[in-house]
Amino acid sequence: MTKKYFFFFAIMLSLLWFLPTVPDFVRAAGKPGNAQAGMEVHKRQCVRCHGETGKGDGPGSAVLKTKPADWTDAARMSGVSEAEMFQVIKDGGTAAGKSKLMPAFGAKLKDQEISDVIAVIKSFQNGKR
Ligand code: HEC
Repeated sequence: MTKKYFFFFAIMLSLLWFLPTVPDFVRAAGKPGNAQAGMEVHKRQCVRCHGETGKGDGPGSAVLKTKPADWTDAARMSGVSEAEMFQVIKDGGTAAGKSKLMPAFGAKLKDQEISDVIAVIKSFQNGKR
């Protein structure tokens, strides 16, 4: 077998190995989240509660009995998986055993937009904004 074929098979094999491990939500969403596109969604839909910088201090948050988490708190947010975020955003707080004050966005946002906004949440967490 030539070197070229060997590489081809190695790549095919690694793809086969990798595919079943990709979580459902990633496959559903297609591409990985794009934080730049997600920022538009964040500004439009999330800032009023979660705040411009994701600290949970949006203008509407004063009246919320359960406060949103501080997305810049990496220690707190490391306990929230992307799959969990996806569920909370798509189906609302109650779907994930959280407060009903977190609305469901499944009807407003495409799966891709949800992935994009998760990329934004993660960028706050990494202190990139
Ligand atoms: C009406 C206010 C409101 C809006 C608008 C809102 N959220 Fe939330 N969100 C909440 C509250 C309150 C919680 C906390 C729920 C709990 O801890 O029980 C929350 C929780 C979350 C969580 C779980 C982690 C955390 O912060 O506690 C994620 C992820 C989340 N929201 C994402 C979003 C995204 C993305 C948007 C915009 C598409 C959005 N939210 C819009 C109120 C809101």
